[in-house]
Amino acid sequence: MRQQVLVTGGAGYIGTHTCIELLANDYDIVVVDNFSNSKPAALSRVQKIAGRDFVWYEADLRDRIAIERIFAKHKFCGVLHCAGLKSIDRAERDPLRCYENNLEASISLIETMQRHDVKRMVFSSSATVYGESARVPYREESPLAPNTVYGRSKMMVETLLHDLVHADESWNIAILRYFNPVGAHSSGLIGEDPDGVPGNLMPYICQVAVGKLNHLSIFGHDYPTPDGTGVRDYVHVMDLAQGHFKALRQLSESPGLLTVNLGAGRGYSVLEVVRAFEAASGRKVPYRFAPRRPGDIGSYYADVTRATEVLNWRAQRGLLEMCVDSWRWQSQNPDGYV
Ligand SMILES: NC(=O)c1ccc[n+]([C@@H]2O[C@H](COP(=O)([O-])OP(=O)(O)OC[C@H]3O[C@@H](n4cnc5c(N)ncnc54)[C@H](O)[C@@H]3O)[C@@H](O)[C@H]2O)c1
Repeated sequence: MRQQVLVTGGAGYIGTHTCIELLANDYDIVVVDNFSNSKPAALSRVQKIAGRDFVWYEADLRDRIAIERIFAKHKFCGVLHCAGLKSIDRAERDPLRCYENNLEASISLIETMQRHDVKRMVFSSSATVYGESARVPYREESPLAPNTVYGRSKMMVETLLHDLVHADESWNIAILRYFNPVGAHSSGLIGEDPDGVPGNLMPYICQVAVGKLNHLSIFGHDYPTPDGTGVRDYVHVMDLAQGHFKALRQLSESPGLLTVNLGAGRGYSVLEVVRAFEAASGRKVPYRFAPRRPGDIGSYYADVTRATEVLNWRAQRGLLEMCVDSWRWQSQNPDGYV
């Protein structure tokens, strides 16, 4: 019989791609999502790509009664906890909403897991927990000093998970610190579908290329980087999805608490991404330089030694493939999942 995994936030960008990977590796999945930043149509597309049905529930993780009912109906071997609010800007404007959602949802989920003796979890954390003070490349032991509300909400959940394992060693937890996920499934059926003006570089470039936005603003071109623009570690979302599967498998073979960076292990500048995207799409991406944004860092990328050694994981897809796949999704679905 197949093992069953609960994917929270499974209708979102990373959740949908991770569901494909789990289904391809013969897991059964159950998705719970409140669709606050996604649409049910994304799940129909996942079913189409995988050629398999699965159960999904529209529910908010903070609704303890609804979550209890879901756990009572299924026997999960583990949980991939991807649900969360991810907008850095919105979190700065409304910190209470970010903390309330990201912390309360995690606590409610963990309590329910505990009641049902489901003690294996993979948690979606973020490289934003490192903040400015860490030396590049970021290692898992680098000091944590997030300089955003969002980053602090992730660090708080990480702390909670550490304390949980400290108090009860039967918990098995993998904390995955994603760097900058981009790209889309090669079918062009699923991808990142931002609500309003995108906050991340790749979906912004996509919307400029498809004519929904006039130009890209590049914040800062006087950083100490090869071309002066900011350097980030972009990682293909399907590579990331595979990292989740490997983390889940690792937890069943070797329990405990594991914190792992998931990045490509190298940086690309904004201008490199623009050029690669133009080559991939055949479209011009007009851009203008704008002043640096407060809090932005010139350059960061991951040290992926631990992911390689412990998970036997390494990002396989390069920048051109990330751009080709992003463009396929955007050009085939200019308005997302409508
Ligand atoms: N995409 C990135 O750049 C990035 C980088 C680092 C970490 N992360 C983290 O990875 C996770 C997934 O990110 P994503 O890009 O797929 O985001 P997303 O917004 O596309 O997906 C998150 C999903 O969670 C759902 N959700 C939010 N709060 C919920 C709640 N209380 N109950 C039930 N469902 C809820 C949303 O509706 C959405 O479908 C998030 O936790 C995010 O913070 C994302």
